[in-house]
This record gives sequence, C-alpha cells and structure tokens, in this order.
Amino acid sequence: MIVTTAQLFKHAYGKYAIGAYNINNAEQAMGLFKGAIQSQAPFIIQISKGARSYTDKRMLEAIIRAAGVIFPEAIYAVHLDHGDEQTCYECIDSGFFSSVMIDASHDPFAQNVAITKRVVDRAHAKGISVEAELGMLGGVEEDINVEEGNACLTDPFEAEDFVKQTGCDSLACAIGTSHGAFKFKGKQSLHFDVLEKIKARLPGFPLVMHGSSSVPQDEVARINAAGGKIAGSMGVDVNEYLPAATRGVTKVNIDTDGRLVWTRVHREFFRDKPGDFDFRPPGKIFIEEYAKFIASRNVLLGSANQLTDLRASLGK
Ligand code: G3H
Ligand code: 13P
Ligand code: ZN
Repeated sequence: MIVTTAQLFKHAYGKYAIGAYNINNAEQAMGLFKGAIQSQAPFIIQISKGARSYTDKRMLEAIIRAAGVIFPEAIYAVHLDHGDEQTCYECIDSGFFSSVMIDASHDPFAQNVAITKRVVDRAHAKGISVEAELGMLGGVEEDINVEEGNACLTDPFEAEDFVKQTGCDSLACAIGTSHGAFKFKGKQSLHFDVLEKIKARLPGFPLVMHGSSSVPQDEVARINAAGGKIAGSMGVDVNEYLPAATRGVTKVNIDTDGRLVWTRVHREFFRDKPGDFDFRPPGKIFIEEYAKFIASRNVLLGSANQLTDLRASLGK
C-alpha cells in the first residue's frame, strides 16, 4: 500500500526512523520489498534523477507498482531523491510520487528559500509533501562534488527560518555525514549537538539524514578480497541511528550500503565461477542478500515490527 511520507513520519517521529532506500532496478526492488516484509517494517523507496534515466522512468515506476502487487502487505511511500526544480514538477504531475525532495542546498540561502517555496506551492496543491535541504553534506552527489572541507553543517537558527519561510514538510540537515563510501577520517560520529539545537527550534518537525550508509568493513574486506579496491572507506556508526531518531531524524537515507552488497555478491560469484556468464544466479543471490541487509537495517532504525501498529493507526 502506497502511503504519504507524512503518514509514515507521524507514526515514527521521535520513536524510530523510516529507512529510505534508493532503487534502480527490479532486483533491488525485490530485495527491498522482501526485506521490508521479513522485518515487518514500513519504508520509503527513493528514486534519484540518475535512477529515473538508468533504464526509463516508466520502467522503474512499473517495477515498483508490480512489487506492490507481489507484496500486498507492504506499506511504503515513493519519493524523489535530490530533485532539481524541473524534475520535482515532473514527479508532482506524474501522480506516482508521495513526496519530492528539492535540493537547492548548493544555492545561497535566499535562492534556496525561493526555489523551495515554489516547489512547495506546486506540491501542496496536489497533496504531495516536500523535503528540502539546508546546509551542505560533504562527498559526491550526482552532479556536484562538495569538497570535504567545504561541507558546512546546518545552522539551527537558519533551519527554523527556512522552514517558516518555505512551508516545507521535512528538512535534510547536514550533521556530519556525506554521500558515498568515504564519509569520515578518524573518529566517526554524528554532530548530535547540532541536531539537538535544530530539534529545539523545530520541535515535532521531521528531519532527514542523508549519507547514512554504514559502509560495513567486513563487506568492504570481502569486496577487496574478490578484486575490489575500496581503500579507506568509512560510514556512519549504526548504533547512532536510534539516538538520531529520538532527536527528530525521521528518515534515514541509505544507498551506498546496498551498492556494496551488490558489488560483493557479484565479485565473489564471478571470482568463484569464472566460467559462468548467466546473470540470474548472482542476481538471485543479490535479491536474498539485499533483503537480509534491508531487514537488518530496519531493526537498527527501530522500524522493524511496526507494520501492525502502523496499519491500525492508518485505519487499514
Ligand atoms: O544521494 C544520492 C543517492 O545516493 C543516489 O545516487 O544519484 O547515483 O542515483 P545516484
Ligand atoms: P549514502 O549513499 O551515503 O547511503 O547516501 C544516500 C543518500 O543520502 C540518498 O539521498
Ligand atoms: Zn542524499
């Protein structure tokens, strides 16, 4: 059942976080839905601009619709990840999305406000929620490479002002994470002090943590042992997910970790079976391994075993 992100956030706020997982193809969709049902967790499917153009946006939408039929028990929202203004409008008009993210965080504050406000007006007219971003994460995003040194954390006063001026429904905050597999150097930790200040200025308002992959070191070691070269990678400590959730982080974006599962499965498979060329056997392993991964993350986020209660609260 497709629901709005607002409905998911209302149930989760302050107690647990909803996992928001990026998908690009059928295998990821199967693994995501399977893992969500195994762990009895609601979730958010995220579609990036790159994912929409990987095969064809209609293909991805059809895959998600089919997954919803195959797994009727699933409760989820469909969200545009890191949209520009034009893509937000396309997704708002498509009738398929529960929410869109407008990412104008690289623009100056006033411009970010103006762009976000335009998207909010168009989205709210159709009952669609809007996630905006304030502050800059380090690391690599689709089109933009933010140098680690330039990443700036979200200012709590600006966050309050931004939400008031734009009317956005949730806010992605920079609290020390970055996109990709190389998030930290040295001791890894989220900036809980900044998060607490933002929550104090925006009580009850859903915050979003991007760049939340944990980059499991055992996963990286297996990839490297099978021919990969991912050196010096580091991610978010999974034990910080729930403390972040109790401080207002209601949506936790995870993409890189799923890519690592895919890379490990396929590198190991073809290392061990160099004569094989049928993509389905490793694809099947990936679906099962990705499902296991999703279920494990939902446990850590506290979203596992919430389906029954959520369904009751939705009156379904
Ligand atoms: O934050 C971005 C997500 O990881 C999506 O990545 O734009 O390469 O699909 P992508
Ligand atoms: P990671 O790839 O670091 O998990 O970040 C995902 C993300 O923020 C998607 O918007
Ligand atoms: Zn992101």
